[in-house]
Formats: sequence, C-alpha cells, structure tokens
Amino acid sequence: MARILITSAIPYINGIKHLGNLVGSQLPADLFARYSRARGHEVMFICATDEHGTPAELAAAKAGKPVDQYCAEMHDVQAEIARGFRLSFDHFGRSSSQRNHKLTQHFAGVLADNGLIREVAESQVYSIDDGRFLPDRYIEGTCPNCGYTSARGDQCDNCTKQLDPTDLINPHSTVSGSTNLEVRETKHLYLMQRSLRDKLEAWIDSKHDWPILTTSIAKKWLNDGDGLQDRGITRDLHWGIPVKRGDQPWPGMEGKVFYVWFDAPIEYIAGTAEWADANGLGDDAWERWWRTDKGAADVTYYQFMGKDNVPFHTLSFPATILGSGEPWKMVDYLKSFNYLNYDGGQFSTSRGRGVFMDQALSILPSDYWRWWLLSHAPESSDAEFTWENFQASVNKDLADVLGNLVSRVTKFAKSKFGDAIPAGGAFGPQETALIADLGARIRTYETLMAEMEVRKAAAELRGIWVVGNEYLQSAAPWSVVKTDPDQAQAMIRLALNLIRIYAILSAPFIPDAAASMMTALNSTDWTWPSDVHAAIRALPAGHEFAVPENLFRKITDEERAEWQVKFAGVRT
Ligand code: 2FM
Ligand code: ZN
Repeated sequence: MARILITSAIPYINGIKHLGNLVGSQLPADLFARYSRARGHEVMFICATDEHGTPAELAAAKAGKPVDQYCAEMHDVQAEIARGFRLSFDHFGRSSSQRNHKLTQHFAGVLADNGLIREVAESQVYSIDDGRFLPDRYIEGTCPNCGYTSARGDQCDNCTKQLDPTDLINPHSTVSGSTNLEVRETKHLYLMQRSLRDKLEAWIDSKHDWPILTTSIAKKWLNDGDGLQDRGITRDLHWGIPVKRGDQPWPGMEGKVFYVWFDAPIEYIAGTAEWADANGLGDDAWERWWRTDKGAADVTYYQFMGKDNVPFHTLSFPATILGSGEPWKMVDYLKSFNYLNYDGGQFSTSRGRGVFMDQALSILPSDYWRWWLLSHAPESSDAEFTWENFQASVNKDLADVLGNLVSRVTKFAKSKFGDAIPAGGAFGPQETALIADLGARIRTYETLMAEMEVRKAAAELRGIWVVGNEYLQSAAPWSVVKTDPDQAQAMIRLALNLIRIYAILSAPFIPDAAASMMTALNSTDWTWPSDVHAAIRALPAGHEFAVPENLFRKITDEERAEWQVKFAGVRT
C-alpha cells in the first residue's frame, strides 16, 4: 500500500467554474484519487478555493457584499457544486483560513531569514477616489502606439504592445471610472528567485518522467529572456494575508498583504492542516503528508492543473519550498492539461461563454459530464466540446454499450431464472476466452490509470465494456436458453459477475452509475479484480440481485438543439 498525496489547482473564488476549468484540474485529480483508493492506497486529496487578489475584491464589490462574506458564500456554492460532480476531496479548504495565514507568514519569515527576500521601491498608480493602488490591468486609457481607447495598463489588446500604465493617454480606473489618479511610491518584498535558479533547474532536471507539456513550460520560464526573475510577493490591497515575518510585524510593510500567487499553493499544505482540524486530529496527522522529517518521505505527491498554472508550480512554489531550507514534501509528478474549447471558440469566465458547472448539473447528472470530459480530456492538445460530440458519446458509450448490457442481462436473468444467480452449467471455451481477454485488458487499464493517461484509460474502459457486449452477442444466452438452459445459466452467471467487475472498474469515471450497478447486484464487495478468475466467480449461484433503474438515458436531437441554443449566448 502506497501513500498518495493529490492536489488539484485551487479554483478562484470569484464565480462558478466552467467545464474547461473542471477538466483541467479537479476532475482528473478526482479520477486519480478514486482509482488510487480503489487499489487500496492511502490517499489524501486536497482542494480549496483561491480567495485572495483583486478579482475577489472586485467581485465582492460588484455583488455589494463585504469581501469576507462574499468569499464565505462563494466557497459554499463551489463546495456544493463539487459535491454535485462527486469530487471526492478529503478536504475542500479555503486559502483565507487561519492555517494559511500562519503558514504563509511562516514561509515569508524563513525566506527572509535565509536572505532570500529584498525590498524594492516601486512607482505605482494610486486611485485617489477608489482609495487604493490599482493593479496594471485595472487601469485603461488610450494606447500611445495605435490610438485604441480601451488599452489596459499592462498591454494593448488591439496592437498587443506591452505597456506601462504611465504610457496610457487619459488613463482612468476601471474600478470606478475615476481619472483622479497619481503615481505614488510604494515598497514591496521580492523573492530572490534568481539565486535559486540552479537549485530549481537541478530539481526540474531530476524529474525524468514528467509529461513534455509540464517540462517544456518549466524550461521555457527558467531560460526565457534574462531567465528567472525575482518576483514581488506583496501587494497594496486590503484583502489578503497581512505581511508578517513569521508572527512578528514587518516594519515598512504595514497594511500590505501577500500576493495571491504566493499564498495559493501554500494552501495545499494549509488545506491538509484544515482537514486535520476538521477531523479533530493533531498536527502530526497532516505533517505526515508534508514533512519529510515527520513521515512524508514515503509519500508520492501528484499535482493536477491547467497549463497556465505550470510556471507557478514548477518555479514559484518550488522556490518558496527550496528557499525555506525546511524538509517539506515537494511534488513528484505534475500532470498538466491543455485547454478545452467550446463550440468553435474558447470557454471564458469573464465573457460568460460556455457551460458552467452549475448549468451542466441542471440539465444532466454528473456521470454524463464526467464521462465525456474525461474521455475527451485535453491531454496531448487542446480539445473541443461540441453538443454533437457530447450527444454521440453519451448515447453510444454510456447508453448503448454499458447501460444496455446491464439492463439486458439483469432483465433476462430475472425473467428466465428468477431473483437469484442461476447455478446450472459450466464455463466453456467462449467464457474462458473472454476471461483471458478481460484479464489482459484490465492490466492495460491499470497501467494507463497509474500513468494518468486519462483519455487512453477511458478508451480502454470502453473497450472492456465492448468485449462484454461482443461476448453476449455471440454467446446469445437468449437463444441458447431454448436448447440448452444449463449453458444459458452459466452464461448469465458470468454476465452478472461481469456487471460487478464493470462497476468496480468504472467507478473512478462514473461513480453514481457504478454504485447503482453494485446495489442492483446486492453487493458491497468493491475488491479490485486483480484476479479476474476469482472476480468472475465472486457472486455465487443463489446470490440475489435486482434489475436497476435505467442507468443512462439517451440525449434526443431536440434536447441537443435546445441546449445548443440555450448555451450559445453569454452568461450574465
Ligand atoms: O488558475 C487558477 O484558477 C488559480 N486559482 C490556481 C491556483 S493553484 C495553486 F496555486 F493553488
Ligand atoms: Zn495599441
């Protein structure tokens, strides 16, 4: 039994996430967590809401709520939707927790003790009417290069020129529209990542099995331009983790908070501490996952995220950990994803384009979405959601192949042989061949799941469902029963056991359907079918079963057309 730590990138608090966000982090992480548990490993699966930063403050202001109240409410909303998608976190924490305050301040303190923090004086735009410094992208004005009137302080979207807010003509605050702006001097803390460059490079180079997507992004940022830059880890904001040096005040940093990207990954650790607190456990319970001096040396740590998050997880967060000089567990395997596009364009939270998690659950149960998203995960390249493709996958894979097998076998068995698994006959050459084929396919499936080859694993699982159908097609117990009822009983005994095996294998992808299958078979034995010969005989003759409700319904052409229109517009 291994000990497996899994974290999913923590979603921003402002707003409900779309399906592209889901498939890029939380959902594949859940797949891996469920699979790892099914194989008997000890798993700790942590996610949280990412609650700091200007977008959170502005979203709260827009909602007319104090930011702490807004975050608490949105956390509950996101937690409820995560439950709806059956995301099996051991804990869904909050980056605004006291645990994260303490740990973030701790890390900043030790980094300073180790000489890795320096103070930098910066000039920044201050909005007098808003009473705050404005991040570059919250200042707009006319581009000095092309004359575009909505150029942002960091870049002009029209001519792509990189800008400084002071370059803009007629700049104004996008928070209030105010033009009452001035440049003020402010001091910030910088993490001296440059001096950690060699350590970071050696660490990245030691990860021989990382996906190319992960390593190429890490290397690009390590070597681009002047190479790794020192980066500001503090901000002039009200909402966030107050800048302190451990538990001591930090002279000159009064009223400032840590940058959201400094504290967010630390929440992986803090979230595990929150889990311990929530379960009435002591510090040793979470430290054995995170401190290599306290038991975490035998933990294997997997992170899941979209490609845009990779630089922060291969450079910035590791710089924090390495720079601390403390024995914290670092990531062993970083699984990253490309983007999922939506019907000919991009999913977009800011523009409300695509299907959002709450909307998805309002039209179909989570298994339908989980199956489509995972079997089309954007691994080797970007992928695209279309309603046609979604309909085809659900109707074929789930309804025709899996659902139909379950319903046909259980209904036939009940009508011919009654409420219990029949005892007659014995397995012949066809059954022996199927069992051998299944055994080989299950080994392949295990390998793909262990390697987090999400799409390929889904294809293998579908293949496993298909061979069961092919067997039934050719064995045809419905005909054989007329001439050789004993042989038909043996076939059905095998088929009912096959359904249990399917439930176990499929549960990481479609947990609700798997549970219904298991309930219909009146079993609670989720033992992984490592020994397929034993598994195919696990439910003995005489064991009672039931016919489950239809597992999956088909999506009609009318529904598809209706949803296509309903989700074509912009969510407000
Ligand atoms: O991209 C995002 O949604 C970020 N909130 C991810 C943060 S992951 C980590 F740093 F915690
Ligand atoms: Zn321009």
